Amino acid sequence: MTEEERVTSVKEAAGRRAADLVETGTIVGLGTGSTVWFTLVRLAERIKTEGLEIVGVPTSMDTTTKATELGIPVVGLGEVEKIHLTIDGADEIDGEYQMIKGGGGALLREKVIASISEKEVIVVGPDKVVEKLGTTFLLPVEVTTFALPTVSRALEAFGCETVLRLSDPGVAMTTDNGNQILDCRFPNGIDDARELERAIAAIPGAVESGLFIDLAHAVVIGHEDGSAELRER
Ligand code: A5P
Repeated sequence: MTEEERVTSVKEAAGRRAADLVETGTIVGLGTGSTVWFTLVRLAERIKTEGLEIVGVPTSMDTTTKATELGIPVVGLGEVEKIHLTIDGADEIDGEYQMIKGGGGALLREKVIASISEKEVIVVGPDKVVEKLGTTFLLPVEVTTFALPTVSRALEAFGCETVLRLSDPGVAMTTDNGNQILDCRFPNGIDDARELERAIAAIPGAVESGLFIDLAHAVVIGHEDGSAELRER
């Protein structure tokens, strides 16, 4: 098995297993990323073969497109007050179920959806489970364009180095919300994620950080043999 095949089978195992947690008649938050892709595929299968009835609330324009193409009914936030279950990926998750998200740039919508979800299930491979956040992945912060220089300086005062995320060489990436992303490298990881999330939220022009604190309720960890384990907080 090549490394690419190994990574894909881990994602598929986690993504599909989480989709089997979805009950008929529910509103489902649809996360973003390559692991959730397999959740979407499995949900579409269940809709066709079992008559599963769900309404999806996507966390990104990318997921809206993919879900629609697969035949999963989707609505916007204006049509729901709460979400029963959201399935989303993560870039890092620690032993307390705190996370870094936003590798795909969808952190703002993902956090809004998580905030109104009764249950948030995270789908990952074992490599995303870390002892300390910020040690294997940079922390994304979504920033309004005007404030990029001031937010960058304020973030660097917390001891990180910031890098503007690019979509192409020399071209800043634009999020679904028309903002940019600064990726923050903390040389020794993040010591106090809860406090850092609060501190970043207080910076004018910082729209949202990829620190997800107390938002995940369970994690599904996929393995390369096709199995997946569900851990509840
Ligand atoms: C999207 O912005 C992210 O939060 C994703 O959920 C995260 O990057 C996981 O993506 P993969 O499943 O593709 O690794």
